[in-house]
Amino acid sequence: MLHRPINPSPLRPEEVRQLVAMARTVVGITIDTHKTDFLSGRLGRRLVATGAKDYAEYCRLLQSNAAERTAFGEALTTHTTSFFREKAQYDWLLEEGIPALVEDQPQREVVIWSAACSTGQEGYSALMVMQQARDRGHRGIAPRLIGTDISRPVVQRAKTAVYSKPEVEGISLELRRRFLLSSKSADDVYRIVPELREQTTWRPANLASGDGLDGISADIVFLRNILIYFDEEIRTRVIDNVFRRLKPGGILMTGHTEASHARRDGLDLVRPSIYRKVT
Ligand SMILES: C[S@@+](CC[C@H](N)C(=O)[O-])C[C@H]1O[C@@H](n2cnc3c(N)ncnc32)[C@H](O)[C@@H]1O
Repeated sequence: MLHRPINPSPLRPEEVRQLVAMARTVVGITIDTHKTDFLSGRLGRRLVATGAKDYAEYCRLLQSNAAERTAFGEALTTHTTSFFREKAQYDWLLEEGIPALVEDQPQREVVIWSAACSTGQEGYSALMVMQQARDRGHRGIAPRLIGTDISRPVVQRAKTAVYSKPEVEGISLELRRRFLLSSKSADDVYRIVPELREQTTWRPANLASGDGLDGISADIVFLRNILIYFDEEIRTRVIDNVFRRLKPGGILMTGHTEASHARRDGLDLVRPSIYRKVT
């Protein structure tokens, strides 16, 4: 069978300009106009899938077709994540963050928001830590997790909560035994236990535009490995959107390389990459 080449068309400067502008509008992300290899590497498949004969035709399609704009955003986003990524933050939550949060009110719901949740590992790691906090005597905590991401496929995967063996390797053996079920029908496939899955809600949302964020009010927000993709204007908008949904006294975590991007009035830096909203 003959395959069409994945990257059939050269990218002209005018098309690069249009695609970069569209990426900013649709997803909020900033792409360097020199990164033509990145653009053609990510978008070559969209040309094939849509049948556009070149990038000029693809740009016209993007203007007129909302479904293709979604697929375009999907093709450009990076979903790298893992269980207990930047583990020091989870350790801090267990040792200091959660005890301080519930000190005045030990019997309470604690809402965690994984704000760019990708395939869910960040959120499930947080719920495992909440269970550990309960074991340590904070029995009155009722954890609830909201996971949001601009990408529908990753949100769907987070909800399904099925992971491969390499993916679960970041979870300690003790937590794996407690919070993972092995598949009866397939080797090396695991699912998060119902006890944790039942504490979760997943939905698509755009942190830059605010679409899908209504009703969120969180005690702990994970906003990690996302701010680096935005320029200053969009970043400010994203931080505002998150700040408004963080309860007074609540905790905001960023990626360790992004901590300075979240600096703003009303957020105190507690540790590198960990903020607390002033009460
Ligand atoms: C690199 S992953 C980070 C996942 C996780 N927070 C972590 O640190 O492991 C970035 C995620 O941000 C999502 N994303 C990109 N732009 C977004 C936007 N404007 N609103 C919401 N999510 C977005 C991507 O779809 C992707 O899943």
